[in-house]
Amino acid sequence: MARFTLIVNGKQREVDVPPDTPLLWVLRDTLGLTGTKYSCGEALCGACTVHLNGNPIASCRYPISAVGGQTVTTIEGLSADGTHPVQQAWVELSVPQCGYCQTGQIMQAAALLEDNPNPSLAEVDAAMAGVLCRCGTYLRIRKAVQRAAELKSMVGGVR
Ligand code: FES
Ligand code: FES
Repeated sequence: MARFTLIVNGKQREVDVPPDTPLLWVLRDTLGLTGTKYSCGEALCGACTVHLNGNPIASCRYPISAVGGQTVTTIEGLSADGTHPVQQAWVELSVPQCGYCQTGQIMQAAALLEDNPNPSLAEVDAAMAGVLCRCGTYLRIRKAVQRAAELKSMVGGVR
């Protein structure tokens, strides 16, 4: 076991876990943040996507020892009340079907819009391609990312 200090959703957290523990399990099992999902465990599906310093990463293959003092944001920290433009667009367009992949989809979309507030369809498709959806909600995801970009521009890009 080893002690690590990390910043999760704006709060400093201390954890005592084996150094090779994937960040996903620290979030879910140690910190109780179960909004981030486990699916493939091989960095292949995107279900476990969180932000590390604002960049999307597959937390299932990212060891806690590599996190250091970087800032981690999970779906629970995307907004205080579910009003992040991506979350609003997802609700408006009823994107989820079973819902399992949707945390990853939302976190990936939020990172894309932070980086590129007005992506083309090709850019949306390229950015979202790594997050798989077994229910095939891709068309709604595509529309919702575009809608989120609109909503984000309306609030002046404050998020
Ligand atoms: S569970 Fe991490 S990428 Fe699939
Ligand atoms: S909504 Fe079911 S896997 Fe994507």
